[in-house]
Amino acid sequence: MNKRPGIVPVGRLPALGVVPERMHAYVIRTSRFGVPEVSFVAEEVDVWPVGPGEVLVQVMAAGVNYNAVWAGLGTPVNILANHGLDYVVPGSDASGVVWAIGEGVTGWEVGDEVVLHCNHLLEPGSSDLQTIWGYETPDGSFAQFTRVQAQQLLRKPPQLTWEESASYGLTYYTAHRMLVDRAKVQPGEVVLVWGAGGGLGVFALQIAAAMGARPIAVVSGDDKAALCRELGAVGVINRKEFPALQYREGMSATQESEHKAAIKAFGKRIWEILGERTGPDVVFEHVGASTFPASVFLANKFGRIVICGATTGYNLTFDVRHLWMHQKQIIGSHFADADSCRRANGLMLQGKVKPVMTECYAWEQVPRAHQRMYENKLHGTVSCLVGAPRAGLRTYAEALAAGSEG
Ligand SMILES: NC(=O)c1ccc[n+]([C@@H]2O[C@H](COP(=O)([O-])OP(=O)(O)OC[C@H]3O[C@@H](n4cnc5c(N)ncnc54)[C@H](OP(=O)(O)O)[C@@H]3O)[C@@H](O)[C@H]2O)c1
Repeated sequence: MNKRPGIVPVGRLPALGVVPERMHAYVIRTSRFGVPEVSFVAEEVDVWPVGPGEVLVQVMAAGVNYNAVWAGLGTPVNILANHGLDYVVPGSDASGVVWAIGEGVTGWEVGDEVVLHCNHLLEPGSSDLQTIWGYETPDGSFAQFTRVQAQQLLRKPPQLTWEESASYGLTYYTAHRMLVDRAKVQPGEVVLVWGAGGGLGVFALQIAAAMGARPIAVVSGDDKAALCRELGAVGVINRKEFPALQYREGMSATQESEHKAAIKAFGKRIWEILGERTGPDVVFEHVGASTFPASVFLANKFGRIVICGATTGYNLTFDVRHLWMHQKQIIGSHFADADSCRRANGLMLQGKVKPVMTECYAWEQVPRAHQRMYENKLHGTVSCLVGAPRAGLRTYAEALAAGSEG
């Protein structure tokens, strides 16, 4: 029987299936809630025990998501409050290798190369027991080993590197669910995508285009425009040209009329792009307070505003007359169920949708990567190396060979 090693340096891999007692991990504790460069601290912690139906995965790379920023800030909820440990390892995206298998798990073997989806149980919100792995559970991806339910495992696309594979899950599956399953986008429909150069946005553009719809991208800098066109946008709007469009609480009467005028001017820009007087059939929302009044106003008659987040604030204000008079719908959406993730990952396996990984950070830069997301300085999606000794590797064998080189 293999003796369990104590701890292995980051970027080195123990023999396949040998589980060390301790591991390196980034850990958030209540005592240091704050911005990512304060809240993310590297520590040594115990490797998770694996129970029935669970799998231990050697993390090769981990993806950066906004939920880890929220976790570190301790707001809008203290996610440590209910899971029974005084720390959490954040991170809801990873690529890796199956390392140990719990009782009752079938269909997977030690050594399988995988990506993970972050939904515990089937339908988000369907049960009080449903949680998001690496946000509402303590055993997330910014560690050498992560513990998941077997149903979270999906095949790693062999054509992608470890870091590319870790970069897409949470945002891509969320965007896929919002547009395919919730808003049910139809060919020819116009889809307005806020934050189109961000984590969700780059996938919303690709999915809408793949469905034969006409995505219009909204960004805050012309530097993101070329990327958005490449991903299928039929037009790109720089929101900085419409500063008064942003809703702010306590606006004066003058500011309110400037706000309404800015929304109308923005709507006319959409007409110019489309060459017809029509608005979006679907608005892809996750910005929240700042953009929601515009989203409701701009949506076409019978249009749908599909929303999964609220980066700028979750108390939303809008003129409800536009909603009822034009019979628009607001549709909530939260991550995705396992079946939806599998369908979405199928498109990734076939190369029909591609990750948009713009940066890859080293293990030591994990707090920095999250800090840059918090400061809205990232484009596309971003990953960090964990077990993979360097970027550009696609298989466990390649990673093992590269790790023993140095
Ligand atoms: N419920 C779920 O399952 C779920 C899943 C994934 C994400 N989310 C949430 O969705 C939000 C976005 O996630 P993400 O990964 O796409 O984040 P991200 O990569 O940081 O992208 C967000 C984008 O929002 C845009 N933005 C920021 N402030 C804005 C403003 N005032 N007005 C208009 N646009 C603004 C930015 O684009 P520009 O500056 O270029 O306009 C930015 O690129 C987060 O709050 C996250 O927690 C929820």
